[in-house]
Amino acid sequence: MAILVSGGAGYIGSHTCIELLNAGYDVVVADNYYNASPVVLDRVKQITGKDFRFYNADMTKHEDVEKIFAECPDIDAVIQFAAYKAVGESVSKPIEYYYNNLNCTLVILDVMRRHNCHNFVFSSSATVYGAPASVPIPEDFPVGKPTTPYGPTKAITDVCKADPTLNVALLRYFNPIGAHKSGLIGEDPNGIPNNLMPYIAKVAIGKLEKVHVFGNDYPTPDGTGVRDYIHVVDLARGHVCAIKKLETKCGLFICNLGTGHGYSVLDVIHAFEKACGKQLPYVIDPRRPGDIAECYADTPNAKKGLGWEAAYDNEEKCADSWNWQQKNPDGYHTVK
Ligand code: WQD
Repeated sequence: MAILVSGGAGYIGSHTCIELLNAGYDVVVADNYYNASPVVLDRVKQITGKDFRFYNADMTKHEDVEKIFAECPDIDAVIQFAAYKAVGESVSKPIEYYYNNLNCTLVILDVMRRHNCHNFVFSSSATVYGAPASVPIPEDFPVGKPTTPYGPTKAITDVCKADPTLNVALLRYFNPIGAHKSGLIGEDPNGIPNNLMPYIAKVAIGKLEKVHVFGNDYPTPDGTGVRDYIHVVDLARGHVCAIKKLETKCGLFICNLGTGHGYSVLDVIHAFEKACGKQLPYVIDPRRPGDIAECYADTPNAKKGLGWEAAYDNEEKCADSWNWQQKNPDGYHTVK
């Protein structure tokens, strides 16, 4: 039995492939390298010492997905990561985001049912909660009013409820950071990073001048935004647990993947300073439009339903991000 990892060359996808391979699963990776590099898959092989099948496929195209299932009848479950993920960009490109993200998911689900594949893990996001009424956010919080076009593409509960033969795990990620211990794979955003951790890492390596802290007048202990930063390997392990959960024929299962702890922007900068051994310059800028003050998870479903809990502490998350950044100052474009 094999697991199809759609978007398996991406940041979270590649770390998940490693955990699946290490857990003894056969993996079929599909990716069109829209936001990923072919180098990643060589590194996954190098880390695990294992080989796997790969398809250069556009998951919005029926024929591409159909070909994978026709040639790999042993696919028993799909983990669907393939999506555009720049939340800010989704505001200026709503059609592209709806088209790509929804079609990837819907085409996969359609082809799955035609091939009698009933197990689906979906890469969802804390963004579905919108601006939460309070924190921490448990899984039974109402799915909020989406603040960007990216949001609705991560809320597919109805699609899953409609088919009783489907086993679906919707995993709502908080803020993934960190990298594999080897420093061979990590987050490699195109251009200037939108997210905090890759931005800090680029300042630390000298590629960007200073960190811009978006607001210090939030109702939080130090005035800066508070988030739940989860190590990407913890997140990846959550997917292996989710696959095991589907093996119990659980129907629809929803859980948050976060640490349950909130850290401010300044906390993260200072933790990174410890990891890299130098002071990082920063300035306080105005709030970023659309940002909320605090967002962190409560994870009762993950604990009870998956037997999963985040294990990495802040120090290790920053150390691993820094290790990746140092070894790959230009990401996967770094010439070795
Ligand atoms: C974190 C904190 C910023 C950059 C986004 C998506 C979310 C999820 C993860 C996918 C905030 C502050 C940031 C900077 C800063 N993605 N910040 N300077 O916005 O919590 O979440 O990524 O599903 O859906 O919305 O993450 O890393 O951008 O910001 O001060 O240069 O850091 O204001 O408080 P965010 P982030």
